[in-house]
Amino acid sequence: MTVTRSSPGGPSGALPEVVELDAHLRLEDLVDRNALGELCRSVYVLFGIPVRVYSAAGGLVAGEAPEHEVCAYVNTLASGRRACGSTVDAVKAKEPGEAGDVVHPCFTGQQYRVFPIDYEGRRIGRVILGPYAPPAIEEVPASLTATLPEADRPKVKLTLAKVPRAKPESITRIATHLLATLDLVMFSGHKALVTSTMHVASVKESYRELSEKNAKLQGAYDRLRELDRLKSNFLATVSHELKTPLTSIIGYSEMLAEGLTGELTAEQKEFVTTIHDKGHQLLELITGLLDLSKLESGTMTLRRRLTEIHPVLLDVESTVKPVAMKRGVKVAFDLEQRSCELLGDPERLRQVFINLVDNAMKFTPRGGTVTVESRVVEDALDNEEDSAGFALLAPMDRAVVVRVIDTGPGIPEAERAKVFDAFYQVDSSSTREHGGTGLGLSIVRRLVEGHGGSVSIEANSPKGAVFVVRLPSSNNPRAQRSSLPPPLPPPSTEP
Ligand SMILES: Nc1ncnc2c1ncn2[C@@H]1O[C@H](COP(=O)(O)OP(=O)(O)OP(=O)(O)O)[C@@H](O)[C@H]1O
Ligand SMILES: [Mg+2]
Repeated sequence: MTVTRSSPGGPSGALPEVVELDAHLRLEDLVDRNALGELCRSVYVLFGIPVRVYSAAGGLVAGEAPEHEVCAYVNTLASGRRACGSTVDAVKAKEPGEAGDVVHPCFTGQQYRVFPIDYEGRRIGRVILGPYAPPAIEEVPASLTATLPEADRPKVKLTLAKVPRAKPESITRIATHLLATLDLVMFSGHKALVTSTMHVASVKESYRELSEKNAKLQGAYDRLRELDRLKSNFLATVSHELKTPLTSIIGYSEMLAEGLTGELTAEQKEFVTTIHDKGHQLLELITGLLDLSKLESGTMTLRRRLTEIHPVLLDVESTVKPVAMKRGVKVAFDLEQRSCELLGDPERLRQVFINLVDNAMKFTPRGGTVTVESRVVEDALDNEEDSAGFALLAPMDRAVVVRVIDTGPGIPEAERAKVFDAFYQVDSSSTREHGGTGLGLSIVRRLVEGHGGSVSIEANSPKGAVFVVRLPSSNNPRAQRSSLPPPLPPPSTEP
């Protein structure tokens, strides 16, 4: 008997992958062994005939085959065990021909029938039904007496009578039903297999595409890093080369302005003073560029030591006061006296606050106020990693919070993250009111983060900006963290 089904892809062959898959179809891949086991069990329960399903390679895939009483008795005799073993081996090896099933007799008078399992026109396994007894059997057959002369004939007769009798047509009908059900199981198994194989193929394809894109991105990233490194080198070299002649320009213009080479007319003095001031501006810009390139390339080292914020801020106050007076802006310093040691580079911290106060004064109109306020704060560290989950034993997040508050126009919320980018200015028009290159805040952020701290912007009420710098105290675990970038890799030697 042959049971076949047409391709699930249809005769048009809409799924070429299915055809490809068919070449490797195996019974054990198509069926769920538990479901097939259940099917065999139900056949045995209904008809009392043992069922076994084998793959094309001869492996048992599923079955329900309890021993009949007569077989159990025969197996108690040594020659019966041998004869039974060779019968079972012969049945297992029996290949049903192209036309359909074959019958294999047992020396006990019982029979086996072997049916092929075909799928998509290919043989992928066998079903063995039996042993069962043909209806004609009444007496103990001669083959059993010849094989086992020592057998207890009445016992054999009694147990043989208990074996279910089945006509060939009945066995054919049982097999037809079994194979039709099996065919459905295989069909749905095949569908699931095709779906999952196609899914795996599409995932593989997506993975391949992603890997390709990833490699391209990595290449672009490497090129950008290289360009970035070249830019930093260029900045560093140019800035350094500009600094030397500029120092001479500033020095000589200062000497001229002071009259060291003779008295100047008022107009000459004004010109020389302008040269001196502009030279200074240029020097500040170059110093900023040098700092940024050092920060970006990771070559800036912070000379961190135990230090107090107080003297740093007092130094800033004395530096900015004269400028504030000139600009008509009131500057007030409100410093908490409580001591809090930081692990900081005083010169770089001074640079941070000079930059912030300078911005505040620059953007605050005449008559406005700039306030610098410092406070020591103490919270339990919220970070699990730092507190190891013991809230009570957790180290304290001791820090100094310095706020630089002004009454200028403030910074719109959407711009607050961007102003820390190098060269970014809220007003970048050529007609803008205030000078500068947009480097100050990018240096501020990198320096503060290099101290394990953070800087953010809030709005002042009713108007103005508030820059909040938080610096961890020396015994705060955050103080040990520095986020200065790692040094850029050496130049690549590839052309
Ligand atoms: N206190 C402030 N009030 C309003 N806007 C500010 C304030 N501080 C900074 N900004 C805005 O952020 C931009 C970037 O500031 P940053 O200090 O980086 O550059 P800059 O002051 O323009 O130039 P530089 O500091 O290099 O001389 C400024 O151009 C300005 O638009
Ligand atoms: Mg600035």
